Amino acid sequence: MPDTPQTTHHSRTARRTLVAAAGALAAGALLISGLGGSAGAAGTSLKTLAEADSRYFGTALTQSNLSDSTLTAVASAQFDMVTPGNEMKWDTTEPSNGTFNFAPGDQIVSYAKANGMRVRGHNLVWHSQLPSWVSSLPTGQVQAAMETHITTEATHYKGQVYSWDVVNEPFNDDGTLRQDAFYTAMGSGYIADALRTAHAADPAAKLYLNDYNIEGENAKSDALYSLVSSLKSQGVPIDGIGLESHFILGQVPSTMKANMQRFTALGLNVAVTELDDRIQLPASSANVTQQAADYTTVVNDCLAVSGCVGVSQWGVGDADSWIPGFFSGYGSATMYDANYQPKPAYYAAVAALGGSTPTPTPTPTPTPTPTPTPTPTPTPTPTGGSSAGCKVVDAVNAWNTGLTENITLTNTGTSTVNGWSLGFTLPSGQSLVSAWNATVSPSSGTVTATNLSYNGTLAPGASTTIGFQASHTGNAAAPAAFTLNGTTCSLG
Ligand code: G3I
Repeated sequence: MPDTPQTTHHSRTARRTLVAAAGALAAGALLISGLGGSAGAAGTSLKTLAEADSRYFGTALTQSNLSDSTLTAVASAQFDMVTPGNEMKWDTTEPSNGTFNFAPGDQIVSYAKANGMRVRGHNLVWHSQLPSWVSSLPTGQVQAAMETHITTEATHYKGQVYSWDVVNEPFNDDGTLRQDAFYTAMGSGYIADALRTAHAADPAAKLYLNDYNIEGENAKSDALYSLVSSLKSQGVPIDGIGLESHFILGQVPSTMKANMQRFTALGLNVAVTELDDRIQLPASSANVTQQAADYTTVVNDCLAVSGCVGVSQWGVGDADSWIPGFFSGYGSATMYDANYQPKPAYYAAVAALGGSTPTPTPTPTPTPTPTPTPTPTPTPTPTGGSSAGCKVVDAVNAWNTGLTENITLTNTGTSTVNGWSLGFTLPSGQSLVSAWNATVSPSSGTVTATNLSYNGTLAPGASTTIGFQASHTGNAAAPAAFTLNGTTCSLG
């Protein structure tokens, strides 16, 4: 039986207010001098909020991710469902006929268990990451190989996975079935056979068909709808549809909710299984704002559909995303930047789930008095047990009249920085348009970037990235020097 999550625990009005606040935040992650106020940290985690709505919030993790303590700290704090990025796929689990390797997948399962997370098994049958021995088999042997593979893997993980993507990406975009080794050997019946075989091995696991470009109503999702209607009417065990949701910025389909509803009306669950939202680089502040709106839409669509059991992002942060490697010139597709700092999309997801979000507070009387130029104090030479130090890496992307700049600030000192002000001077002719992950003022000359509440603490060795967009009149140079709380930073 599919799960039936509830959607009732908080009012839509309250949620809309919070969503609006998140939109304001996303639009503003920068508060230039006319706006003061602080941006408070999110009230709670994605997983806690999702659980309050009888849902989960998940992420993909790969084996190599598990040795990155910064990444796993975010993963365990925010997510309660794990999808192995590659470790349960056929090329890993049965690289040659009859030889099974579950060690990498087992590591993901152990991590999940140790951190109170469930696991979406991914996947049993897929045309990709399929070892060549399968596609080289005589067609008469493919069914037995498929059934053995499913039975062995689903039995190994019996009781340890919440669900299985039993067949992954079976359709072409035009709604025809992909002519892979399985279809070629068995015709469309391989899907029902795979589902029945998986159910026999692990009757408690929720069984899914998972695909991309089926999020909205289109030829591909129509074909999937026909297929699963037929499977249901034949009594084939199927519990859910996974909507991968690899979106392009601003292109979340307007029919996503209605599409999910037609599948749940068949008695199925749906899940957003691999969410990301790719941006053509460099990402502008407007792009980052749109991304937050896209995440809001996706989370709201899931919450609005009572059979939508959860949302999983494909990877924890931008550093883990498959996007730059597959779509040249695109990236910044997740809720966390390359240093695992939350982006506006994170706050948008929190808000959509009903959590508290930072809200910019207008200052009643703007004071246009120029901020006195902070004079960088010489670096103190510490004699005691701790020292202050910082490093700045500044990346400028300029065009004829404008530029974006991303500044990664690292605490190279030996004590934790609690609250920071980064001082620098914008070259003549540059004027701030917008910024992200910091409050920056004034808009030209010597400016100060001040942390927001979620990135104010920098442990020794920790980094955070802020950025801004500026106009220029011909000089697109980066600031020549930076000071962190008065200490001059080295330039990386
Ligand atoms: O393991 C080999 C390594 O030995 C070799 O040196 C290296 C050189 O290319 O490749 C390594 O394999 C890579 C594998 O990931 C493991 O890292 C493959 O090249 C690479 O193509 C593969 O990419 C994966 C991709 O699926 C394959 O289609 C991504 O990591 C994975 O995130 C991605 O995930 C898929 C979902 O399963 C299904 N939906 C789409 C999603 C994104 O493509």
